[in-house]
Amino acid sequence: MTVTELGRASGPHGEVVLRRRTTEHGAVHLELVVDGVFAMDDVDTSTEQALATEALARCPGDGLRVLVGGLGLGWTAATALADPRVAAVDVAELQGPLVEWAGRGLLPALPHEDARLALHVTDVADHLTASPGHYDAVLLDVDNGPAFLVHETNAGLYSDAGLAAALAALRPGGVLAIWSSDPAPELAARLTGLPGVVGVEHLVLPVERDGRRYEYAIVLGRRAPAEP
Ligand SMILES: C[S@@+](CC[C@H](N)C(=O)[O-])C[C@H]1O[C@@H](n2cnc3c(N)ncnc32)[C@H](O)[C@@H]1O
Repeated sequence: MTVTELGRASGPHGEVVLRRRTTEHGAVHLELVVDGVFAMDDVDTSTEQALATEALARCPGDGLRVLVGGLGLGWTAATALADPRVAAVDVAELQGPLVEWAGRGLLPALPHEDARLALHVTDVADHLTASPGHYDAVLLDVDNGPAFLVHETNAGLYSDAGLAAALAALRPGGVLAIWSSDPAPELAARLTGLPGVVGVEHLVLPVERDGRRYEYAIVLGRRAPAEP
């Protein structure tokens, strides 16, 4: 196996490393390490893509506005852009260097020149607070899940107040979807208990990797539609 570093940079939120791994069989994969924590690779991105497709399947109509929280390797954002009903995809990403590498085309999954795409270097929590009632879908994948944080400061996102802020960034009827590397029934229960949320679902998505079976999860909830 050989590993080639494509980018390494340090900033206020720690170090971010983008690297390419080539196996002895010639398979080539991208990997992302954030603040010393393995964030993801592109061996199987089916659940990162499902984060977008499952949420958008629950959004009727077109002209849809989508927020993606965490850029990563760009798979969730790319999948949202692949839906022709989507008019705008904002990505909130903490790591400025990663956004810069995306702009240089170093994330091959991401159609970075799509005019509907806007990349913002910011904490998604701040972006949510600044965007009341704006989005049809908010897709959060900033950690390995609520139980395995990349940054301890992200814990607030999964608190009652953080979830309420994410719901408030949706227009009435809009969909919040959160990715997790493990089933997250506690998160689904917390979301269900919030005022103004309906239709909470907890999808468990099995993935086979290296001969092992993993269970990832997506928690979805809808901001209650406006009264007629
Ligand atoms: C697992 S990756 C996202 C993967 C992405 N769904 C994909 O399809 O490639 C997590 C990303 O979230 C970013 N991140 C972590 N905390 C964040 C925060 N509070 N606000 C914005 N981005 C954050 C990380 O820098 C990393 O790029």
